[in-house]
Amino acid sequence: MADTSGLPDSLGRPMRDLRISVIDKCNLRCTYCMPAEVYPEHYAFLNPQERLSFDEIVRLATLFVGLGVQKIRLTGGEPLLRRDLHTLVARLAPLEGVVDLALTTNGLRLAAQAEALKTAGLHRVTVSLDSLDDEVFGRMNGKGQGVRPVLAGIAKAEEVGLSPIKLNVVVQRGTNDHLLMDLVEHFRGTGHVPRFIEYMDVGNRNGWEPTVVVPSRELLHRIHERYPVRPLEANYTGEVAERYAFLDGGGEIGFISSVSQPFCGTCARARLSPDGKLFTCLFAREGFDLREPMRAGATDEQLCAMIVHVWKARSDRYSEIRGALRAGGVPPQKIEMYQIGG
Ligand code: GTP
Ligand code: 5AD
Ligand code: SF4
Ligand code: SF4
Repeated sequence: MADTSGLPDSLGRPMRDLRISVIDKCNLRCTYCMPAEVYPEHYAFLNPQERLSFDEIVRLATLFVGLGVQKIRLTGGEPLLRRDLHTLVARLAPLEGVVDLALTTNGLRLAAQAEALKTAGLHRVTVSLDSLDDEVFGRMNGKGQGVRPVLAGIAKAEEVGLSPIKLNVVVQRGTNDHLLMDLVEHFRGTGHVPRFIEYMDVGNRNGWEPTVVVPSRELLHRIHERYPVRPLEANYTGEVAERYAFLDGGGEIGFISSVSQPFCGTCARARLSPDGKLFTCLFAREGFDLREPMRAGATDEQLCAMIVHVWKARSDRYSEIRGALRAGGVPPQKIEMYQIGG
């Protein structure tokens, strides 16, 4: 059912989720996000003064929550590279009206930080993990990084109760799609939820080709043949993943099908970049700068008015019109994934 309360954009979609990217740096170089040949080790990412401080993030988050946001997700780049992230969590968790506070991470630093994050009030984590095979994973993450520390991070998150734990698996035909059953089998019965994500044309630098996308329907069919599943209701209006449960009680999996089955119609997500720009779509070209007015002394009322203005004018539905937009031959310019956190 459509969620009609709250601040509606130009297509009637309320603002319910806020995804806050706390840093644009990452310790991996996933080929589909931040290819190593474009982003060398010493690439000029934002410097600390350019990034919002925790005070600034808390101030803006409070305003967003006042306008109807109920879910906050911290992202990056890799959010656990931002020093003392747990102290930010501790200030966001008590905000009245926030019913879900989550973090999307590559898991490399999770084992070391899970306990502090849980104590600070984080509800749950989603960990990116594209394969259990060290060679394939290493190739996809562009660093030759093996899976062991990621699995250790997941184990620690489970131990401290940062659950339900979800696993984000970006699927690329010919790269990792032949090994996905390993992931299914590994996580069956653990309570953790693997979600298979159609490779998206985010940003301008990942060389996306439609032929590399494995439509979720195809994958579902493959999994269903081996381990039969049934569809589940969405957890909330506008949930990105389609959920399925194994008939034998082995748990749950999900599919995120932004290419084959776009979900813009219920998209209630606002995104805040590390340098304080408000983006109304993952595929937007530009964001609305909130940092400069804030640093120039804007009041809460003035900042709120800016957010309302931007959200009310929002008409984004990139995934629904991707075909038409790309048909011109020159793909539109877009913000990069690592600058906005997915
Ligand atoms: P839940 O709160 O657990 O439902 O998380 P989520 O699926 O919203 O967040 P997560 O960060 O785990 O994102 C999973 C995948 O979905 C990533 O590849 C995101 O880039 C993608 N995604 C999330 N929101 C959107 C969206 O609004 N549009 C598109 N096209 N993709 C999205
Ligand atoms: N297509 C689909 N998912 C992507 N992610 C990053 N880049 C892409 C892409 N091009 C995923 C990451 C992470 C999440 C936030 O977005 O794997 O889990
Ligand atoms: Fe880093 Fe995540 Fe991008 Fe991979 S997808 S390079 S882990 S930000
Ligand atoms: Fe929302 Fe843009 Fe994704 Fe559509 S493409 S679901 S409007 S973020």
